[in-house]
Amino acid sequence: MSNQIKIFDTTLRDGEQSPGYSMNESEKLRLARQLEKLGVDIIEAGFPIASEGDFQTVKKIAEIITESSVAGLCRTTDLDIETAAKAVEKAAKPRIHTFIATSDIHMKYKLCKSRDEVVESTIHAVEKARSYCDDVEFSAEDASRSDPEFLYRVFEAAISAGATTINVPDTVGYALPWEFGELIKGIRENVPNISDAVLSVHCHNDLGLAVANSLFAVQNGAEQVECTINGIGERAGNASLEEIVMAIETRKNNMDFTTGVNTREIYPASQLLAEITGKGVQPNKAIVGDNAFAHEAGIHQHGVLKNPLCYEIMTPESVGLTCNKIVIGKHSGRFALGKKLEDMGYKLSKDELNSAYKSVTRLADEKKIVKDHDLTSIMSMMRNQPNPEPQKMASGG
Ligand code: KIV
Ligand code: ZN
Repeated sequence: MSNQIKIFDTTLRDGEQSPGYSMNESEKLRLARQLEKLGVDIIEAGFPIASEGDFQTVKKIAEIITESSVAGLCRTTDLDIETAAKAVEKAAKPRIHTFIATSDIHMKYKLCKSRDEVVESTIHAVEKARSYCDDVEFSAEDASRSDPEFLYRVFEAAISAGATTINVPDTVGYALPWEFGELIKGIRENVPNISDAVLSVHCHNDLGLAVANSLFAVQNGAEQVECTINGIGERAGNASLEEIVMAIETRKNNMDFTTGVNTREIYPASQLLAEITGKGVQPNKAIVGDNAFAHEAGIHQHGVLKNPLCYEIMTPESVGLTCNKIVIGKHSGRFALGKKLEDMGYKLSKDELNSAYKSVTRLADEKKIVKDHDLTSIMSMMRNQPNPEPQKMASGG
């Protein structure tokens, strides 16, 4: 077993399925190129049977991507599989991803199939997919709410039929990290042919545990993690790619794993997705939110300006940002304000800094964040100059 975890990105499929995130063909092609640059191992490009547009887009992505594998999703029916196979056939590294639900609740109410029928459909789908493609992934939808003994049976059958990856989705985001870890361990121990396939996980974030569940799974033998940029996906989203990758990267001292991701492309990928979908990222989102590397509190600003490691566990540059952000607000101290004004071209005496500080805290009480143009006005009022030009104004303090 390699300790390089495969990153399977499903932004263009599960991510796109979430309300407000649909993308057109050219937007998907742009994002697919960025995902390849990011170094993900597999790009799930869409669900080809869903529409003619989805089919055409998966086909085009398959034609332009050369480094990452390109996967098309399908249910276990013949037409689904044939359509997915056609959509990815030109890919340098094609993958067919077929799935069927294995939980009692899904089998009874959604599929109206018995356990034996689900096993039969699994074998049929995997064998059919393998007739088109050497790389076939099988997912047991709602695996985390399935009877583990049945799951072992389905996975054994899928691998015997030729599945090269088996995926364990926590479809409804119900699992707890230690429980999900146990499930993965159980699969490793009870599926006799498990070493013939890559063991994958796919976690949803309904309880905010998708990343934790994915990491517990990795600790317990998962070799592939399915995730999305900015954590988008059905309902509360999927496990966030940037959080998983940076957790593995930042805590190498605790987890002996790596990924093939070029972490410096994380921020550009996040921004591109936000730009394309018109949906910004929440400011406090880990790794890629506006505040992830921003500091407003005086004590923090002082520490970060002296040595970023005081309050930053990874560098902004490592995820593709050019620098951290010192935000001037009511919690900021004189030290950070002086540094900020210096960066803006002002050289201040101690007295000037004190009075600038007073004006800034007064303003910050009213408007939360003090922007650069506010600082310019404050300096201009202090120095009685109507039309401020920072460099010219610097008086040598
Ligand atoms: O959440 C899920 O179960 C899925 C499968 C299709 C893998 O998205
Ligand atoms: Zn999903």
